[in-house]
Amino acid sequence: MPDTAIKTEILIHDLKVPISVIDAGAKSLLNRQDTYGPLTEKQIKVLKRIIRNALTTQRLVNDVLELGRSREGVMITRDFYVSSLVMTVLVEIFDLADPAAVDVIRKVHSYEELCRVVEDFGVKLAFDSKVWKTVVHLDEAKVRQILRNLVTNAFKYKAAFVEIAGSIEGKLLTLCVRDDGRGIPPSDHQKIFKTYFSTGSSLDNAIKSHGLGLAGVMVLLKDMGGEMNLNSNDGKGAEFIVKIPL
Ligand SMILES: Nc1ncnc2c1ncn2[C@@H]1O[C@H](COP(=O)(O)OP(=O)(O)OP(=O)(O)O)[C@@H](O)[C@H]1O
Ligand SMILES: [Mg+2]
Repeated sequence: MPDTAIKTEILIHDLKVPISVIDAGAKSLLNRQDTYGPLTEKQIKVLKRIIRNALTTQRLVNDVLELGRSREGVMITRDFYVSSLVMTVLVEIFDLADPAAVDVIRKVHSYEELCRVVEDFGVKLAFDSKVWKTVVHLDEAKVRQILRNLVTNAFKYKAAFVEIAGSIEGKLLTLCVRDDGRGIPPSDHQKIFKTYFSTGSSLDNAIKSHGLGLAGVMVLLKDMGGEMNLNSNDGKGAEFIVKIPL
């Protein structure tokens, strides 16, 4: 790796410490009012926002470091359930978008119950029950980052719903993320995988559109020997299909 790249990555790495200090400070004020003094409703709201955003920053830092790890070809594989992968991604996304959903999602006991609950929040799940309970052996951080990016995009562009599906055939894990939004014109199908190509409005939220998500997904996928297919047309929604060898 070139020196400048290492320097940038170490700098990003070192952001972890101040972020966790911000996080811990806000949590102390919130959870230890006996020591730090009572809070008003409005102060509690602000502190919760700080904590949520510290978490987002932590995730972004982790994502950048994960990409660096990928570029160097480092894989850390382990066993994990397909269900826990999907649950983690849903919790991460709703943590920011709709914290009320997280409380409900955390309490569910079965796949069927989860489906009913998330439907109210615009998510359809389409896993067959066997896949849902399957343990796979992969680099979980990479797979999670891939799924999170696809689902985040789908949420950004959906009209009414996002569908997440999964299946396993032979030695291939397929994850499919679909939405019913504005879709992607064929002329953009190549471009969207390039770094810094984004049609997301920076006015909505400066953090949300860098045009890096899909480019990162491609780096991670290539590293795992996976591939991605896109089905989409103007105004017809988008479907991203990821295949990862097990
Ligand atoms: N589900 C989708 N529906 C419609 N357009 C999409 C969808 N997913 C991606 N795109 C298009 O692809 C572009 C690139 O996506 P990508 O995730 O790389 O960047 P981004 O979402 O704009 O920013 P970020 O860096 O925050 O991910 C988007 O700006 C958008 O134009
Ligand atoms: Mg994105």
